[in-house]
Amino acid sequence: MNEKHALVIGGTGMLAKVTLWLADNHANVSVIGRTQKKHRDLIEKASDPAQLNNIAVDYYDLGALETKLKQAMDRYGPITVAVCWSPFYPAVERICQVISERTDNWQLYHVKGSRRYFEDEPLSVPASCQYRSIYLGFVLTGNLSRWLTHDEIAGGIIEGVKKDEARVVVGTIHPYENRPR
Ligand SMILES: NC(=O)c1ccc[n+]([C@@H]2O[C@H](COP(=O)([O-])OP(=O)(O)OC[C@H]3O[C@@H](n4cnc5c(N)ncnc54)[C@H](OP(=O)(O)O)[C@@H]3O)[C@@H](O)[C@H]2O)c1
Repeated sequence: MNEKHALVIGGTGMLAKVTLWLADNHANVSVIGRTQKKHRDLIEKASDPAQLNNIAVDYYDLGALETKLKQAMDRYGPITVAVCWSPFYPAVERICQVISERTDNWQLYHVKGSRRYFEDEPLSVPASCQYRSIYLGFVLTGNLSRWLTHDEIAGGIIEGVKKDEARVVVGTIHPYENRPR
């Protein structure tokens, strides 16, 4: 078993390259997503497929989420870093509680859409979780704006994890009224 165990919630979608980057940086990575085919497609791209652990669960089912997360930690060890793309904060809170039962000091990089920069829901995390927010903004060139590409999103999140700051914005978020519609 490798020493590190990372978790990516929504790691088979636009965060796929973040998942692969974490795997290449010494960690076994558990990946939450419902669709088996997306997991298989991701595993095909991995340098070492054995490092990716598929957690096929709907994160709205909190009981199943908790059970499968505990099973993953039984097998791969305590999670020390998590990257999360989920709009369902009760699932994020449950994940934090379950990880904190086994890990004293760990990082959560919570990826959020730009709206949450201005108005976010409350989220309760245990003291052992070092909580970081990574906001996905947009690209503004002159008067033209567009949303980020998947590569820009993944690259920005990887830079955010490396920087390890409390708040990171990928792209820009100001002026917000110039965002793409
Ligand atoms: N600022 C920006 O530029 C910006 C910000 C946000 C989004 N976007 C765009 O919006 C598009 C759509 O975003 P998206 O939210 O669909 O992201 P996505 O990353 O394409 O897909 C969501 C990820 O979460 C998983 N997931 C979704 N619901 C789940 C559930 N109930 N339980 C467990 N896992 C679940 C998905 O796998 P399964 O479906 O297999 O479960 C997938 O891995 C993106 O492709 C991106 O281009 C742009």
